[in-house]
Amino acid sequence: MKIVITGGAGFIGSHVVRRFVTKYPTYQIINLDKLTYAGNLENLKDIEHYDNYRFVKGDIVDQAFLETLFSEEKFDAVIHLAAESHVDRSISNPLEFVMTNVVGTVNLLNAFKKHRTNEKGFFYHVSTDEVYGELTDEGKFLETTPYSPNSPYSASKASSDHFVRAYHETYDLPVKISNCSNNYGSHHFPEKLIPLFINNIKNKKPLPVYGKGENVRDWLFVEDHASAIDVIFHKGAFGETYNIGGNNEWTNIALVKLLCKLMDQKLGRPEGDAVKLITYVTDRAGHDYRYAIDSTKLMTKLGWRPSLQFAEGLSKTIDWYLANEDWLNNVTSGAYTEYYKEQYENR
Ligand code: NAD
Ligand code: TYD
Repeated sequence: MKIVITGGAGFIGSHVVRRFVTKYPTYQIINLDKLTYAGNLENLKDIEHYDNYRFVKGDIVDQAFLETLFSEEKFDAVIHLAAESHVDRSISNPLEFVMTNVVGTVNLLNAFKKHRTNEKGFFYHVSTDEVYGELTDEGKFLETTPYSPNSPYSASKASSDHFVRAYHETYDLPVKISNCSNNYGSHHFPEKLIPLFINNIKNKKPLPVYGKGENVRDWLFVEDHASAIDVIFHKGAFGETYNIGGNNEWTNIALVKLLCKLMDQKLGRPEGDAVKLITYVTDRAGHDYRYAIDSTKLMTKLGWRPSLQFAEGLSKTIDWYLANEDWLNNVTSGAYTEYYKEQYENR
């Protein structure tokens, strides 16, 4: 089976690529990635020599490129993760999100539909729970929750989900969709809350908590997301959506305080040192209050279970960042400084 994984050089994509390449030696895995600021081949150094792995640099917005690639390769399946993924960047530049997340997804659907030869081949679209909008203190997102995206990021992902569904309904294209909660783990770009704060604590820089820090997120270890994608890829039904979550809700401020405590311990600093860096800053525009996922369907129908408790996952994550200083220094040099200034200087 020949599978193209888009966005395989990014945070979640690299974990999915590694899992498929090492666990399924008979599959040929092609990683298609544009290598934006978020894509990094260093993320896959340990598996790049595998015979069943290949990297192709390319942009999913480029129709002509996809036409050539898909007509030559005749992929059996697509696992689509390539995206612009950061909410704050989507607020500054929504159009880029429309291009990659919406136009790029439709281009991929067209290329796959036109060139697929395997009757059993399918398109697996990886998405986010943010398409459902925000929750109050009660309830959780179900697969049947109506879409109500609030940020340009979630609006673009919602649109891409609708196109994938529409290709199933209109053209009978076999598709699968999953919507996952917030991931954390190694190789996470330090623009998102957890890796940003790990990096800032390490460098004794302020920790910019948006608003009062009372927003709630449901955190899942990235390798558990990859294992869910594996299960859905192999056992999920066509035309179905599966929600993936960690059943692990934290207010931002409680999570940041736990992170501070663990970082003080690991860096051998006095207790209470990192907490002093917490700085409350202007809230994110349109900031969703709470996300929480009900993964009952995935657990009961396909037998998936998350493997790690949060404290253990967070501790492993911090250890990875502390052991991979070069990775962190590389991704935070150059354009990152500009990004940081623009997002945080006048907040
Ligand atoms: P990421 O930003 O770390 O990586 C995205 C990858 O896509 C990068 O390697 C980048 O180079 C590539 N890419 C971007 N634009 C491209 C283009 N035009 N053509 C080809 N490649 C391109 O993102 P992530 O956090 O790993 O998320 C992966 C997917 O999972 C996304 O679709 C995202 O919406 C979804 N998701 C993320 C989370 C999360 O917590 N991070 C949760 C649920 C779902
Ligand atoms: P983030 O990691 O950007 O993920 P998402 O917006 O997709 O949930 O943010 C997680 C939470 O942390 C969210 O409620 C916003 C908040 N946050 C901060 O308080 N400060 C920050 O600097 C960042 C990046 C996020």
